[in-house]
Amino acid sequence: MKWWKEGIIYQIYPRSFFDSSGNGIGDLNGISKKLHYIKSLGVDMVWICPFYKSPNKDNGYDISDYKDISKIFGDLNTFDTLLKKMHSLGLKLIMDLVVNHTSDKHPWFKKARKSRKSKFHDYYIWKDGEKDKKPNNWKSVFSGSAWKWNEQTKEYFLHLYTKNQPDLNWENPTVRKEVYSIIDFWLSKGVDGIRMDVISLISKRLDFKNIPNNMIFIDVMEKYYANGPRVHEYIKEMNKKVLSKYDIVTIGEGPGINLNNGLDYVNEDENELNMIFHFDHLTMDFGKEGKYDPIPFDFIKFKKIFSNWDKLFSKRGWNSIFLGNHDFSRIVSRFGNDNEFHEESSKLLATLLMTLRGTPSLYQGDEIGMTNVDYSNISFYDDVETINAWKEAIDNKKNMKKFFEAIQKQSRDNARTPMQWDNKKNAGFSKVKPWIKVNDNYKKINVKNQEKDLDSILNYYKLLIKLRKENSTLVYGKYEDLGPMHTKIFSYKRWDENDVFIIHLNFSNCSVKINSNEIKDYKLVISNYTFAKKSYNLNPWEARIYKLIK
Ligand code: GLC
Repeated sequence: MKWWKEGIIYQIYPRSFFDSSGNGIGDLNGISKKLHYIKSLGVDMVWICPFYKSPNKDNGYDISDYKDISKIFGDLNTFDTLLKKMHSLGLKLIMDLVVNHTSDKHPWFKKARKSRKSKFHDYYIWKDGEKDKKPNNWKSVFSGSAWKWNEQTKEYFLHLYTKNQPDLNWENPTVRKEVYSIIDFWLSKGVDGIRMDVISLISKRLDFKNIPNNMIFIDVMEKYYANGPRVHEYIKEMNKKVLSKYDIVTIGEGPGINLNNGLDYVNEDENELNMIFHFDHLTMDFGKEGKYDPIPFDFIKFKKIFSNWDKLFSKRGWNSIFLGNHDFSRIVSRFGNDNEFHEESSKLLATLLMTLRGTPSLYQGDEIGMTNVDYSNISFYDDVETINAWKEAIDNKKNMKKFFEAIQKQSRDNARTPMQWDNKKNAGFSKVKPWIKVNDNYKKINVKNQEKDLDSILNYYKLLIKLRKENSTLVYGKYEDLGPMHTKIFSYKRWDENDVFIIHLNFSNCSVKINSNEIKDYKLVISNYTFAKKSYNLNPWEARIYKLIK
């Protein structure tokens, strides 16, 4: 029994949560002001995306000082106040640790790039080469080559993300020591957990072999960038030197982590991490060229992914359950129907999130059913990944109308529009023009409206969270998919020695019959349709949770 297994995570993207200072950007004090709202959801842990000092080329995932706070978000005092307030409300704080790379404005890199003789030079990954001949054909996750020429030292440095995010050299023991000291700095302040950004990438394959042409992105990630030869050695060392000294939760973000290697990161016997975020269900619609080349959603495969991961962790390790975050489009637009069944399908996804085995992670705004944004052209977008992909598509003479449609569907900015608090100007997020345009539907979809409405998505989330908290079977109980080949319904059973639950989720726009025998001895606990008498037909996007009558 562990608190982080039984708890629920709420994820905050700080620049889009609540602006208390009036500069159009959300901040730490803004989070403080909304803690009662967060508490009212019934969640236990709050993961806040990076708010360290940063030039914000990748919205905080490019850090220039790990032991300080970006001025736009506050300062160390605002942080201490936030942490204190959170603890007084019984909320735990999970910080984001980004140590695969730093910002190119970090003092380490500034010194490293000046001279090969600097002690900081070996903090990063360099390769000799000629100005127009890259060391290999590796591509950055954010388009273009993963190598950038550094004129002062006449060599290339590696950046798997933007050119402003040079990768750290974990082979260097001093780098590792620096990282452990950063972790210790925050944990000794009382921080309760760490989400580790792209932690699967920290160990590089030192032969830097060329990637075969035509290899799909997901395979490149798994076989070339992630899961390097020393990754487990490094995580074990980190655990031994610092993590193990605190009662915290650790979640590794894991591109390239899959069913074959997932357990290696979270096996309790190995003393590494508690959980991982894998992306099997969020990259399943990526085509050959990645996210902007989508293939149709395969529902059977979607269900299978959840079943397979549950099975993987059924004896050892622990799962994390999430349907979206700041890097993916909105869950209701992606897996639900954000049009005629907006409310029903948002609630159905909530039901899925809160009834699987593993720790659920709820991303800000999903609790009110925030949707993808309908920007009319590229100038509204901010995300460096989106913009780089757009520029590359122009260079590659892509059909730009089609490409824009893919951006509208898949851009990370879909999940980054300001939190919709009320129907006032700027959705109550800020008194001034926000850093990114608010979604036009804020007048209808907002917290204030939903707090008043007992049947709202928000109140449904609260009920579900309460239900999960009151029924440990939903946390720890076994799981079985009752109809893996059904093309419209996701039905599963959760059970242990105390209780049995059956969950029916109709992922379709039509009504579908369910097996009446299956639920004969069960009572309905909750549903996203309100009428009392329940038939054996599930309405479009209907979700029902049944419990065995004892
Ligand atoms: C992770 C973050 C993402 C960031 C990237 C590089 O995937 O979630 O937002 O851009 O790492 O740090």
